[in-house]
Amino acid sequence: VKIGVLGVPFDKGQPRVGVGNGPKFIREAGLINRLREIHENIDVKDYGDVQYTIDNKISDAIPNMKDYEHMVPCAERTSKSVADIIRSGRICLTLGGDHSIGVATVDGHIQAKSENIALLWIDAHADLNTNKTSSTGNTHGMPVALLAKELSDYWPYLPGMDWQKPVISIRNVAYIGLRSVDSFERLIIEKLGITAFGMEDIERYGIDTILSMALDKVDPERNKSIHVSYDIDSLDALEAPSTGTSVRGGLTLREGIYIMESIHRTGRLGAMDLVEVNPSIGTERDVRTTVEAAIHVILAAFGHSRRGLRPKDSHEL
Ligand code: ARG
Ligand code: MN
Ligand code: MN
Ligand code: MN
Repeated sequence: VKIGVLGVPFDKGQPRVGVGNGPKFIREAGLINRLREIHENIDVKDYGDVQYTIDNKISDAIPNMKDYEHMVPCAERTSKSVADIIRSGRICLTLGGDHSIGVATVDGHIQAKSENIALLWIDAHADLNTNKTSSTGNTHGMPVALLAKELSDYWPYLPGMDWQKPVISIRNVAYIGLRSVDSFERLIIEKLGITAFGMEDIERYGIDTILSMALDKVDPERNKSIHVSYDIDSLDALEAPSTGTSVRGGLTLREGIYIMESIHRTGRLGAMDLVEVNPSIGTERDVRTTVEAAIHVILAAFGHSRRGLRPKDSHEL
């Protein structure tokens, strides 16, 4: 397995400082070596952090999209880097940064794999607002709406974003972990019939069944390159306290790890984002808890195993 790690220390998609230090803290907790320790044939290359300069031609032109002039150049750079990493034969692991970077990572994946991708959005939130529906103007609440073909008519012309194309059909997107969905987002989910598993569904069916249901929908032939955009706030606030918009009643770390163990087993993970770790929120212990949770989820994605050795077929008794 070949992995390319990319940091995107971007924090302008939401109001709290600190989330830009996510990549630094996750690396300093030993991510790269811990990936290498999973097994001998893992090849990890760290591509460092994405840099961008703001474009003076793009002003704060779009109403209710905060710091648009930052989002655009960062996204363009990120998309290019992700596409290059995937084209070089690596699974791209992007460390955020806030979730607005999801537009760019998914775009880069699509550019590299010519659209044949399935997107799992693991999140407490749907991130499905447009600038017209958002009550905050924070672009980390908008990436899925920017990516979805079916919503392109609901956006104004977005200067500087012409490269972001082709976009993904919402039929290839599934949510897991939802529990804080805005009313317009819910309307869009229902209207477009988007595959969305909230905490109540996970409670009812269990995480293993939810994952097969999600893949049946977005990857029925089991042949797509899978993109997992993993917002750390999908985990319960007790498991991942150091994040900007935490919500109680979320995934346990065990469920969160299991999602990536299952995706690893498909052998088709193409790219993963781990976003919204904010080391400026909470106590030192909260930060350690959150960073460790992020690392456990990532290690599972690349084959770290918690498997035991169960007697054959004993589960059928
Ligand atoms: N729905 C809210 C908003 O639009 C919260 C979004 C939170 N997003 C996130 N990536 N944590 O602002
Ligand atoms: Mn601005
Ligand atoms: Mn979220
Ligand atoms: Mn999110």
